[in-house]
Amino acid sequence: MIGKLNHVAIVVPDLAAAAATYAETLGARVSEPKDMPEHGVTTVFVELPNTKIELLYPLGDASPIRKHLERNPDGGVHHLCYEVEDISAAKQHLTERGARVLGNGEPKIGAHGKPVLFLHPKDFLGTLIEIEQA
Ligand code: CO
Repeated sequence: MIGKLNHVAIVVPDLAAAAATYAETLGARVSEPKDMPEHGVTTVFVELPNTKIELLYPLGDASPIRKHLERNPDGGVHHLCYEVEDISAAKQHLTERGARVLGNGEPKIGAHGKPVLFLHPKDFLGTLIEIEQA
């Protein structure tokens, strides 16, 4: 059911420094920062030939990634995003097999303007999974 790895998201303590690490030390192409108030994050995307890295920094007091940063003050991997063809069919497939969808269970529009859902890390080997309708 899942297709390509769309991105790996990393929560970072300093977005400008993280973008510079990817742009200068690792020599990758990075985007400008973008505030996403409905997700409580500011993002920078690193474009790689086969996938993307999403650098995340908390935006606002209620940011869902603030705790992750407190637990990982140097930064840390936050989630993996896999592409699916049809998010409603994917949700049905997953929930029929006992996987838990986070939030109210309805797709939100993600960082690329496409519908996304997040899946409970306890159901997926301790890893938060995002699925995105490609
Ligand atoms: Co993501």
